[in-house]
Amino acid sequence: MSALVITGGGTGLGLELAKQYEKNYDHVILTGRTLKNLKKAKRSLEEIEISTSTYELDIREENEINAFFHDIFNRYDVTALINNAGVGHFSNLESISSAEVHEMIDTNVKGTIFMCKEVLPYYKKQNAGKILNIVSTAGLRGKVNESVYVASKFAVRGFTESLVKELEDTKIVVTAAYMGGMDTPFWDDSDHIKDKSRLKSPQQIAKAIYQQDNGQPEIHID
Ligand SMILES: NC(=O)c1ccc[n+]([C@@H]2O[C@H](COP(=O)([O-])OP(=O)(O)OC[C@H]3O[C@@H](n4cnc5c(N)ncnc54)[C@H](OP(=O)(O)O)[C@@H]3O)[C@@H](O)[C@H]2O)c1
Repeated sequence: MSALVITGGGTGLGLELAKQYEKNYDHVILTGRTLKNLKKAKRSLEEIEISTSTYELDIREENEINAFFHDIFNRYDVTALINNAGVGHFSNLESISSAEVHEMIDTNVKGTIFMCKEVLPYYKKQNAGKILNIVSTAGLRGKVNESVYVASKFAVRGFTESLVKELEDTKIVVTAAYMGGMDTPFWDDSDHIKDKSRLKSPQQIAKAIYQQDNGQPEIHID
């Protein structure tokens, strides 16, 4: 049974990507830390007849990532991974706490790296597989009060571009997606965005990513 894994699939863009990309796979595996959100997301996908399972997984924990893949490689033919989970804290640099710096780097950068590191040997054995890394326009240019978040997303951009080159003679397809602001729970505890009504919906962005995705190295959504 071919399966798609999505990190941060319980809410926002991850859940909407599941609704788009499920067409290409037999089964969707949503991961995240909050069981309540995962259960709600699973129900919403099953209502539209998408075969779904959920796993509690904190991508900051390498041991959890190892255990997760060990389990699902035994159950499913994992053919795609969408690294979507991410966090942001926005303020001038002096006001960002050490804990917030660590959370952004550990989740956005190291989480993405360790998910890829774990899936790649499996993909190499199959000589096939897909990785889609959700970046942001914050991976393309610096922004006021976003320094650490931007640093984390530049890192994911460099990491993804390098993997594309490293894997160019294989059938493993790696893509980075760059998009602007979306109206998701990402902004729930933040006043960084003054007028959220101007943000695009995660449905719109997920649809655009899916439609543009031909396995090219980069997808840019205006
Ligand atoms: N919203 C925007 O304006 C915007 C713009 C460009 C790019 N992005 C990027 O889009 C991606 C999705 O964000 P979103 O806007 O859809 O926000 P969201 O609804 O808050 O989704 C982020 C997801 O990441 C999960 N997550 C956070 N930390 C995690 C961890 N340590 N381990 C596992 N899962 C974790 C969260 O679930 P749990 O908390 O339950 O773990 C949540 O489901 C992020 O990478 C974000 O940087 C967002």
